Amino acid sequence: MPRPIEAIIHSSHLSHNLGVARERAGGARVWAVVKANAYGHGIERCFDAQRQVADGFACIDLQEAERLRALDWRGPILLLEGVFEPRDLETCSRLQLWHAIHSEQQIDWLAAHKVQHPQRVFLKLNSGMNRLGFRPQAFRAAWQRLSQMPQVEDVALMTHFSDADAERFGQDGIAHQLAVFDAATADLPGERSIANSAATLRHAGRPIGAQSGELSVAADWVRAGILGYGGVPDYPEHDASHYGLLPGMSLRARVLGVQQLEPGESVGYGSSFTAGVAMRVGTVSCGYADGYPRHAPTGTPVLVNGRRTRTLGRVSMDMLAVDLTNLPEAGVGAEVTLWGQAGSGERLGIDEVAQAAGTIGYELMCALAQRVPVRVED
Ligand SMILES: Cc1ncc(COP(=O)(O)O)c(C=O)c1O
Repeated sequence: MPRPIEAIIHSSHLSHNLGVARERAGGARVWAVVKANAYGHGIERCFDAQRQVADGFACIDLQEAERLRALDWRGPILLLEGVFEPRDLETCSRLQLWHAIHSEQQIDWLAAHKVQHPQRVFLKLNSGMNRLGFRPQAFRAAWQRLSQMPQVEDVALMTHFSDADAERFGQDGIAHQLAVFDAATADLPGERSIANSAATLRHAGRPIGAQSGELSVAADWVRAGILGYGGVPDYPEHDASHYGLLPGMSLRARVLGVQQLEPGESVGYGSSFTAGVAMRVGTVSCGYADGYPRHAPTGTPVLVNGRRTRTLGRVSMDMLAVDLTNLPEAGVGAEVTLWGQAGSGERLGIDEVAQAAGTIGYELMCALAQRVPVRVED
């Protein structure tokens, strides 16, 4: 028998979640962001569900784009960071990829590229995140250069928010970057894409600014990443049920053994948890080598047979301990849901587990270990 642990990908939840993005986005089209192997869910596993709603797929790695074309996706694919070296442009031509342009060097490569088909590019403005993109004062010259190149069919405009998930400095997190985007792009033609999940969920209907007229933050394309997988970008201010999001992935294991602890006895490496009273402790077939965060402290929430309890002590490589004191019916073989949805339907948000462990849901999804078998469910 294989070790009792599995990840379940909930197909219907993936399409439902992108439907939430579509609703929020009004008339805008939806990129399903599938970078990092669909946020750890697996591009091939998610594809059938996501293609039902998505207008395009956005990724980072050219191999991810290859995989999407191998799945027979003929619609738009956007490389969010653009190309990494000149010969990637051949792949863009061959696979008809749209690609971000964030640097002069990428424009130079494109200018030297022997054109087969003119390409669609998304010119990226650094509106304040200071990760990638042209500063506002250099943006127009980059736009003009690209617009005149035979290699370019169409120049769309994009930027990325650093703080769409929260208030910062006494104002909502996008106001400053929106104003910069508005000023730098208002009189330029072309499609626009500015909203990630947080902006789609929190700000989609809001106008970009005075100069951009009626155009809203959803603009022409929203980029739905984490929300598509049921993660909440602004947890704990909001949780999944607030937005109607459903878990894309569940991680489930089983109780392998049960220990009765006397007061004063401890559990696991480092004896970091000591029982104050008599306790019943379950040992679960999941550890940090499965992608469960080692830093999850005692008290991290977990579901056993669909009922909420907590972890105890340190997470080991292959096992962790849970408190069964108030769950007398749960013995060896009991189902343990580390995040997502229990077999009986109860849910434990990945964001809640992540927060307890001092991280974010994104990291937990992406860190699901190779050794965990994955099953795709309707
Ligand atoms: C350029 C760009 N767009 C969209 C996304 C999707 O972000 P999220 O998962 O928060 O929706 C990312 C993620 O980092 C990104 O880098």
